[in-house]
Parts: sequence; structure tokens; C-alpha cells
Amino acid sequence: MFAARVRTLARFAALLLVLLVAVGLGSELRVRVRLSDGLVTEEVLEADSDRDSISLEFKQGDGTLITFVADFKQEVKIFRALILGELERGQNQYQALCFVSRLNRNEIIPSESMARLRQKNPQAIRVAEERRGLEQMAMTAAVNLSRAWQLSSHVRNVCSEAHEAIYTREADVKYWLEKGVDVSVFEALPQTTEVSSFQACHSTKDLWQPCLCTYSLRLEWYPCLLKYCRSRDAGGKGSTYKCGIKSCSKGYHFTYYVPQKQLCLWDEET
Ligand SMILES: *[C@@H]1O[C@H](CO)[C@@H](O)[C@H](O)[C@H]1NC(C)=O
Repeated sequence: MFAARVRTLARFAALLLVLLVAVGLGSELRVRVRLSDGLVTEEVLEADSDRDSISLEFKQGDGTLITFVADFKQEVKIFRALILGELERGQNQYQALCFVSRLNRNEIIPSESMARLRQKNPQAIRVAEERRGLEQMAMTAAVNLSRAWQLSSHVRNVCSEAHEAIYTREADVKYWLEKGVDVSVFEALPQTTEVSSFQACHSTKDLWQPCLCTYSLRLEWYPCLLKYCRSRDAGGKGSTYKCGIKSCSKGYHFTYYVPQKQLCLWDEET
């Protein structure tokens, strides 16, 4: 019993992050995170309590900048990848991809909790406590950038470089339409529900042919849950309080239509 308590105490003492009681407004946290390929990157987590949103950004080993925004107000999440182009293959310096989807409850901690996170040891290299699987995301519809404010005020900023490459899922479109979002926000893509209608880009030879592209990314470290601890007052009355966070890692695998294979050059047969 006593040993167990000591162990529990030790575990709390070892918590990487502490929730401060002090109120912090918009705040930024920089954490060192180990990526799947072993490289260490600096991840910047920002919470905006007023706009009720969180953003998370880091650079992958290949130079790709990954940005994730959780908009709690509109219950929307946005993934952006800024992929370094291969200049010698005639590509732009950057290729931007944006994926917009519904934010579910409890995917990530609330923005006001995020704003209060501080770390005890900024030099520590973080590895998520829970490694979640790869979620398959079939992005079968496009979003019109200039109308996307109807979904979330963040899309315009985050996705401005991705004009022709803002994608979402059929089920999300259906949900948003039911909520009253105007149909003109969405653009139909060539029929992609039938797998047979377009080939995967990695098996398409012609650079000018349309095909189904895939892109995977992983949010390697983010606070996914609040931890609660128990305290007992002098009278032996118990209560719980927030005493830290649990960290998660989660992968996403996006499949989407591109009008030309050359917009999907990373998706090559190896
Ligand atoms: C997107 O919306 C803008 C402004 O509402 C419109 O002018 C434009 O034609 C739309 N783009 C497409 C591809 O439909």
C-alpha cells in the first residue's frame, strides 16, 4: 500500500508538464519531440483562449512544415503540410496541402488548459505516452478558399497557399450542410468514390494524368487528455484536481484526387 503510494508520487513528480493555476492568456510552448525516424524536432504549441483554438507546428526531417489547428469554437480541425518542392523537377519551392475535417470531442485538451501548460524541463526530448494508429481519411471533396470562413475563420490564414488543394471528407460535407453551411463552400471533385475510376498516383506513369494521391503525416506529440489527481483534506474528504496531461501521437493517411500526377511526386513506387 505504502509502496504503491510512493510509486504514484514518483510518477507525478516525473510528470513532464505541470498545469499551473495561474491564468495565462495566449501562450506558446516549445517542446523537443522525437519523430518516428529518430530525429528530434522543436514543436511549437500555441493556445489562444479568446479564439478558443490551439495550433501545433513542427518541421519534419525532410523539411516539410506540418501545422495542425484545432478550432474548438467551430469544431473544425485543419492539417497543413508545406512540402519542399524539387526545383530540379520544375516544381515550385513549396507545395501546400490542406485537409479540413470535423474536430471531435476529446481529441485534444481544451485551449484554456493548453494555455496553462508549462514545462519543467525544456531540454527533455518527449515521446508520447500513447501511440495511436493511422486514421484513414478519404478526402473526396474540395473546399473553396474564399468561402471557407464559413467552416472556420482559421482556414483562410492557414490554407492560403493551398488554393487548389484544400480537401475534406464526404461525411464532413454532409454534416456541415445539415448545419446550414452553404453548398458553394464545397466543390465536387471528379468521381473518386469508385476506386476503379482513377489509378493510384504511384502506379501512374504519365505525369499529366489525374490520379489518387496519398499523403501521410503524424502528430508525434500532443496533449490529448487531462490527468486528474486525488487529494484528501485534513478531514479525510477527497477531491480531484487537474494535475497534468497525457500525451498522444496519432497518424493520418489522406487519399485525394489530383488532376496531374506531378502534384503527387512523393507518392512513387519504391
Ligand atoms: C470560389 O468562390 C469564389 C468567391 O465566392 C468564386 O469567385 C470562385 O469562382 C469559386 N471557385 C471555384 C473554383 O468555384
